[in-house]
This record gives sequence, C-alpha cells and structure tokens, in this order.
Amino acid sequence: MFHMGWFLKQGFGVQGWGAPWSGVTHMEWMQPDPYIDMAKQLERASFDYMMIEDSLLVHDTYKGSAEFPLRRAYSVPKSDPMPLIPLIAHATQNIGIIGTIATPFIPPFSAARLGATLDHLTKGRVGLNLVTASSHRSAQNYGLEKHYEHDERYRMADEWMEVVEALWNSWEPDAIVADPETGVYADHTKVHTIDFVGKYYKCRGPLNTAPGPQRKPVICQAGGSPAGMAFATKYADTIVASKLGIEAMKGYRAEITERLVRNQRPADSAKVLFLIAPILAETDEEAFDRRDRQRKKEAEDWEARVERMSYMSGIDFGQFELDEPLPDDLLPKINGHQSGMKEILSKGATLRELTKFTPVESIELVGSPDTVAAKMGEAMEEIGGDGFLITNTITRRTVAEIAEGLAPALKQRGLTRKAYEPGTFRENLLAF
Ligand SMILES: Cc1cc2nc3c(=O)[nH]c(=O)nc-3n(C[C@H](O)[C@H](O)[C@H](O)COP(=O)(O)O)c2cc1C
Repeated sequence: MFHMGWFLKQGFGVQGWGAPWSGVTHMEWMQPDPYIDMAKQLERASFDYMMIEDSLLVHDTYKGSAEFPLRRAYSVPKSDPMPLIPLIAHATQNIGIIGTIATPFIPPFSAARLGATLDHLTKGRVGLNLVTASSHRSAQNYGLEKHYEHDERYRMADEWMEVVEALWNSWEPDAIVADPETGVYADHTKVHTIDFVGKYYKCRGPLNTAPGPQRKPVICQAGGSPAGMAFATKYADTIVASKLGIEAMKGYRAEITERLVRNQRPADSAKVLFLIAPILAETDEEAFDRRDRQRKKEAEDWEARVERMSYMSGIDFGQFELDEPLPDDLLPKINGHQSGMKEILSKGATLRELTKFTPVESIELVGSPDTVAAKMGEAMEEIGGDGFLITNTITRRTVAEIAEGLAPALKQRGLTRKAYEPGTFRENLLAF
C-alpha cells in the first residue's frame, strides 16, 4: 500500500481562476466552505493529508511588475493557511492538514506555540511544511534588505528547528498531573527553561502552552538540494518532491533512505510523496484527447511558465527572447528554488523549449481511473515507496475526479488504505 496527499499549489487563495468547473464564486475560495467540502471528499478517499502551500509576497520579478500575477490570480491573493486548519479539522475526523511556515521569518517561539496550539485544536491532526522561502521580496516584507543565501537559510532552519523542538519538549510527557485531590494541575519540576543561545537564535522558554496530542506536529519538507535534503532527513515525517521519471524518483528515494540511516533514523520513518497531476476520463481514449487539449492550452499560455520561472529563480526571464539561446551562466545566480530551476534549465537552450516542460509532474498519468490506478501501482512497486501527492488545479470537477473516481479504483486494487487507524495524523502516516 502507498500513501496519498493533495498539495494545494495555490495555497489558501483563489483556486482555478479561469478554469471551467470551479463551481463556486471566486471570493468563496477565500472562505472555509469549499476547503471543508474538499477535505470531506479526500477523507472519504482515505487520503493521509492535504498540504496547503504558502508564500509571503506579491510576485513582481517577471517584467519587474505585479501585473501578471494580479491579473491572473496567480499566487495572489493568498491568505494565511494557519487559521483555516482548525476550521477544516473541526468538520472532519481523520485527515491530516499541513500548513506551510517560512522558517526565516517566523520566530521559533511563535512557531512552536502555533504548532502546539493547532495540535490541540485539530486533536492531533496538524502538520507543518517547513520552507526557507526563496524570494528577496518576502525578506523585504520582514524588514530585510534581501533574502539570506540559499545554504545559510538551511543552516538557520536547522538551528530554528532545534529551538522549536526544545520548546515542544520543555514540558515533560507527564508534566500535567491534573489531580483534583491535591489541586495540582502541572508539576513545575517537569516544565523547564531551554536557555538556548545559538548563532542565529536565542530563546529562554519554556513554552507557555502544553504540548498537543502529537507533542510535535507532523513535519513536512521539500528540500531538493543537498542542504535541503540534509534538513529534511533530520526532521521530516513526510518529504514531498517533484522528480521527473521513475529512475529519478527511485534515485531520490534511495538518497533519502541513505541520509535517514546516516541520521540514525529508520528508512521508513519519513514518507516520500511524489507530485502527480493525473488526467482522468471515462475511457483511456477520452483521457488522451483531454490531455492533448490541455497541453495545447498550456503551450499557448507560455507566459505563465515564464512568470513561474522568474519567481522560482529571482531572474526576470521576461527579458530574454523566446527563440534565442539563453545565457549559460544563469544557474549560479539563482538564490531561489535551486534544484527545481536546475532541472528546468536542463530541458532546453531557449526559453520556448523550457516552457514546454512541465516540472510539477513526476510521471504522466492519463487514462480511466482504473488505468491510472494500475500505472500508479506499477510505478510505486518500482520506486519502492511511499506515495503520491496530487497537484491538479483545484476545481469542483478535479476534486471529484480524484476523490470519487481515482481513489475508489486505488482502493479496489488494494493499493491505498480503505480506512484510517484510530489515532493521530503521525500514527496514520507511519502505520505502513
Ligand atoms: C511539493 C512541494 C511543495 C512546496 N511548497 C512550498 C511552499 O509552500 N512554499 C515555499 O516557499 N516553497 C515550497 N516548495 C519549495 C521547497 O521548499 C524547496 O525550496 C524547493 O523544493 C527547492 O529545494 P531547495 O530549497 O533544497 O533548493 C515546495 C516544493 C515542493 C516540491
């Protein structure tokens, strides 16, 4: 069996702008109801989690203007995902909900407190996707001139996480006595200061809220670079990745295993989920027709790809001619998503060639639900674990296709769980 999650790539913002079948008015995507509906559908499908992307800027790298993202509702507006999490949790019983947090900008004490609070509010079903953020614009929103250098961000994140973990552990497991006879709520000898003094952070502690049911929320990470993978394999319970093709996925899983073991962690203590965006229809033939129409539309919309590359790299790709060779010294200049951009830049010499590449999908999955389920089973068998992360554009239709079409086919083949275990998000994630 393998695990399933859904990555909300537009975060808590406007979903499917301009796409048919979004089914709700676009202001409704700023409210909880459509996400609650989605979570209920994914829970019927026995998904492990939904993961809500986040970033902290209005993009303006492309052509030096925010015109494109604002006109197209492309990553903006974007609300804070954290307050949405308990609302979804309150309307569901089992599914895990992961929110994204940018380690360079949120003080460790605030993050530890928020994580513990959400763990109580969700009764042990919250996760945190730890990102180091990539854009100078986000850094400028938090008072910096520019963002920290790529590897330094991970060194900071490592220390940040040390503080956060120390705060979650600042209450011993049996610190809460809650004894009505003696009137003692908490045993003060079991709640400790942490007195942390590091290179980047200083924190006294203890945490002023008690740890939640998981003690530590599920940690999710997507580091693709060596520094990112080192961080992920130290702390993460689930690692999400976009790797092109079976061989690349297999190689990545093997590298993660090796790094986990080097960190004295069991190989199965972090679940690696790969991004996919299946195209489904009643028959394989219809699905391929749909794929062709979708690819044609995407090719016509090359500007969206160029904007995306500009955001990921921090370099304005709008300055280059579509059919001229790109400068060959771009990679060392990138302080943003290094590993993703390395993969994209390897796909061609001109901008037009690069825009044909779909970096989000690890393997192309097209067909009827049963065909796609079978292909997913074969792929997982070869890769050796641990599951897939759906990243389709969200509309009422795509959620139904995955949750009510693909998921039952996966269950029927015995590839995914049919029901949840009693217990927390982490217990379900690590159950197999
Ligand atoms: C599935 C997935 C989800 C991600 N979600 C976010 C996100 O919500 N916010 C963000 O700033 N970066 C996000 N990233 C980027 C990663 O945090 C990371 O920066 C990227 O994978 C590049 O790896 P590196 O930082 O090790 O170079 C995501 C990446 C992947 C593959």
